[in-house]
Amino acid sequence: MSAPGVDPDGVVGEVVVSELELRRRIDELGTAITDDYAGRPPLLVGVLKGAFTFMSDLSRAIHLPVEIDFMAVSSYGSATRTSGVVRIVKDLDADLAGRHVLVVEDIVDSGLTLSYLQRYLWARGPASLEVCALLVKDGRQRTELDLRYVGFRIPPAFVVGYGLDVGERLRNLPAVHTYLGQQVPTVGGGR
Ligand code: IMP
Ligand code: MG
Repeated sequence: MSAPGVDPDGVVGEVVVSELELRRRIDELGTAITDDYAGRPPLLVGVLKGAFTFMSDLSRAIHLPVEIDFMAVSSYGSATRTSGVVRIVKDLDADLAGRHVLVVEDIVDSGLTLSYLQRYLWARGPASLEVCALLVKDGRQRTELDLRYVGFRIPPAFVVGYGLDVGERLRNLPAVHTYLGQQVPTVGGGR
């Protein structure tokens, strides 16, 4: 890949989902959400940091008076990550009681982060709670998840770009790519 400005170390591999594919699919998701939520505009809850790009594009593809909020979670490190125990680093500003909440996630790998978040958010008394995940890694989920909207199912390799990072970098690549470097486990905040 030639993006020397963003990728001086040459660790960015082939395109997994292109800019055009992202744009088209996100438009379709926006249309589906616009139809499904007519008359009950959702509160979009993005999971930082990875979902920031997707949230920006998806929210503009939804033609309803949506509200937008973010939360940030972090794993307790690689050892405990498998348990799905996450720490809330930034909680929501909005009160969820009676709201139609749509969680906007960048990528579902094991699914443990999302499954924890769903339990956490249900406890706040929303009228409904659904998930819109841009990417789902095939065959990796270790828990049953009800994903209402899915952008793309992709092979279970590590990917970067369009919000997804490795060591906080490469989030600003406009498309989703494979990663050719050594994978550094995310410890602490950031997601
Ligand atoms: P899960 O709990 O295993 O489903 O992990 C979900 C979180 O891990 C996502 O929200 C991402 O922040 C991060 N993650 C999982 N797979 C990737 C990847 O391929 N690239 C970058 N981040 C990832
Ligand atoms: Mg991350």
